[in-house]
This record gives sequence, C-alpha cells and structure tokens, in this order.
Amino acid sequence: LTADGFGEQRTTHSTAPEKEASSLGLVAGAAASKQAWRGRYPPNEIISLINVSRHHNLAESTAQDLTLGDLLDLVPDEKGLRSLELSYGTSLGASELRRTIAQERDIPVDWVLTTQGTALGLHLIASELTQPGDHVVLVTPCFPPTRDVFVGCGVHVDEVKLRFSERYRLNASQVAQMLRSSTRLVGITTPQNPSGVRIPETVIDDLIEAIRTRAPEAWLFVDETYRDATYGLDPTPGSAAQRGVPVVTGGSVSKAHGAPGLRVGWLTVPDAELRTRLSVAKFNTVISGSVVDEFLATALLRRADLVLAPRRQLLAQGVEMVAQWQKHEDHRLEWVRPDAGALCCCRLREDAFDNGSVIRFWSALPTHDLQLAAGTWFGDEARVFRLGFGFLPIERLSAALAVVSRAMDRASGASPRTVRGS
Ligand SMILES: Cc1ncc(COP(=O)(O)O)c(C=O)c1O
Repeated sequence: LTADGFGEQRTTHSTAPEKEASSLGLVAGAAASKQAWRGRYPPNEIISLINVSRHHNLAESTAQDLTLGDLLDLVPDEKGLRSLELSYGTSLGASELRRTIAQERDIPVDWVLTTQGTALGLHLIASELTQPGDHVVLVTPCFPPTRDVFVGCGVHVDEVKLRFSERYRLNASQVAQMLRSSTRLVGITTPQNPSGVRIPETVIDDLIEAIRTRAPEAWLFVDETYRDATYGLDPTPGSAAQRGVPVVTGGSVSKAHGAPGLRVGWLTVPDAELRTRLSVAKFNTVISGSVVDEFLATALLRRADLVLAPRRQLLAQGVEMVAQWQKHEDHRLEWVRPDAGALCCCRLREDAFDNGSVIRFWSALPTHDLQLAAGTWFGDEARVFRLGFGFLPIERLSAALAVVSRAMDRASGASPRTVRGS
C-alpha cells in the first residue's frame, strides 16, 4: 500500500508454463530467456477515465465540457466552416492556429507545431529525442503517459518523486543530481497533474542552468496543459516557451477550455532542426492534424477569454467548496491546496485509516456511484486520490463531496459525523 507504483505494472517475467518448460530444458536457450512480449506500454487503470463516467464523477481533470454549439457561436464566419475543404492539414498545422498560439506566448510563429492533444506531442518528443537505453529524468507523480511513452521507447527513466508530505514542491537540485552527460530530456508539468501545484519560474530557471552545465544535450520538456486553468481573476503566468533553447513546451485546448474532444494541442520548439524532425515524426504517425479540429480550435483560441472567464469563476468556486469540505473532514482527510487546474490531491490520514480501511475505501466507490482518480495511477501513495472539482456542474459538487464523506464512513466503519450547528 505504501508503494508508489504507477498503477498496475506490466510484469516482464516469463509465465509459469514457460518457466517450467525452460527449467526442464524443453526450450532452446535464447528462446527460453526471451521474455513474453506483452506490448510496449505498461497498463494503467487511468484508461477507465475515458470509458466509465459515474454520476459523482470527481475523477476528471478538465473544466466544464464545451459544447459544439457553444463553439460554433464563436466562429465568426459560418460560411468559412461550411466551405472548408476536408483535405489533409499541413505538417506543422494550420497557420492561423499556430499564429494565435504564438501571439499569446509572444514567441515566433515558426516555433509552433500542432499536435493531436499534448498526448501526441509527448509521443513525438519521446520517439524523436530518445533511443533505447537513453536516460531521461521525470518529475513524478505525473500523468501516466508522460512516463510510459518513454518506458515504451525503452528509455531508462529516473524519477524525482515529489511527496504529498512536502506539498509536491520541487527543488531543482533534486533534478540536477540525477543529470548525466547522456541525459536526453528532463520532463516537468506545471501546474502539476495530479496536484495542481505550480513549479515556480525560478525553479525552471535553475533547471535550465543545471541542464546547460551538466547535460548539454538534454531538452527540458515543460508540459503546460493546465496553464490556463487559473482561478477567478488570478493572472496566468507566462509560458516557459519564451525561454527558447533548451525548452520545449506542450499544451492543448483540453483542460482549461473544456474541449478535449477537439484533440488539438501544440508543441513550441525553438530549434529548427528539431522542429523538422518532429514534423517528420508527426507525418509518420498521423500525417497531419484534422482541418476541422484545427479550424474550430482557431476560433476557440481567438475568443479564449469568452470561454476561459466563466470556467475560471467556476474553478474558483469549486476550489473554495473543496476547501470548506476538507476543513470539516480535517480529522481524517488532508489536502494540498492547488495553485491552478481543476484538480487537487487529498490523502486519507494514517491515524484514521489503516491499510485495510484504505482498500475498503476504494472498494466502496462503485457502490456510491462515485469516481476518483487513484494516487497509484500517477505513481503516488494508495491513500492519495486526485479530486477533480471542475468537471461536474457546480450545483452537483457539494453533493458529490458528501458522497466522498460517506465512502470514508463506510471504509472506517464510522457513523457519519454531525456538523456542529447543523
Ligand atoms: C499533464 C498532462 N499532459 C498531457 C495530457 C494529455 O491531454 P491532451 O492530449 O488532451 O492534451 C494530460 C491529460 O490528462 C495531462 O494531464
């Protein structure tokens, strides 16, 4: 239970019958030692997020979903949409979309390459920057594919494991001491998934400095997928893209804008040679982005203020509701207040839940029609869960939080606690 295991790990051991056959000398040497191929990527139950949605869905990481109708209202010229030719897109992506992304970041338009979500960006980076046996350093807990695309490429991954007890704060020296001249990439996410804690700009500067001196061939990948998911009128920090080499950033319209179904994201790549290689990798993977998705994403990003402002108000209300609920639950549940993002990490207190109760908590969720994201999916503790407060309509959030309380009651065998004065 204490292990931080990235969900269910793929075993690389031989199956029992293979072992037996080999020990009896029935399989030739090389074949016997060859491990059964079970695919490139470790399985991880996070995949259930796109296949299952329970009524009390507190597992999602996005703000309120945008509808196609809402988005069409932002398209200035409906004729342009109707006459859009359904051709392939271009290898770098639609020029208006790239220009809109570049303008917001104050970087040259040439640096932008569109991708199908940050997810494709991660794939292109992993497949293009690394070879089997290469070394990368990742800050975890993290979105599982952030690590697993590198595992799938046969890369040696060293993890800097941030801790709930340290409020997921990163010190650049933790990364610096893992760097080698053979390191090809350092990967961070800010605000982080699952915690919503930001990595301060000064730490990013220190990481760049450490890379320049200790691992000059490495790139710093900064995943900014949650950057725009700020609360209320909080300012949005500048993008790390402005720092140029050695920084590559990734982002998308999936989280703050509530449009993961558009499958539009981007990489910012300040180096022309790397950009060309990535566009060739993109061509070899998906050829191009969808012209429809890119057209709609352009309309969305041009009027992003209209989409982001109401969502940011809802996130501010959501995070405050979670804060009030946690205060009441403080005797058995702790949390790390997020800086941004529609998510945060909560932990079942050890003095209130023994390991058996933690298992009972997770087993109780389906009975309560409740969905949470398990800490183990991200490489965190089993008693940690990610709570998404931006996805459900705000009027259903407090009922869903009350259901988490009931699942805790059931797990610990406690009778529901009476709220003073209620
Ligand atoms: C940190 C992070 N990066 C990338 C992604 C991929 O999202 P998308 O491909 O929709 O941009 C996610 C999705 O949860 C994420 O949390």
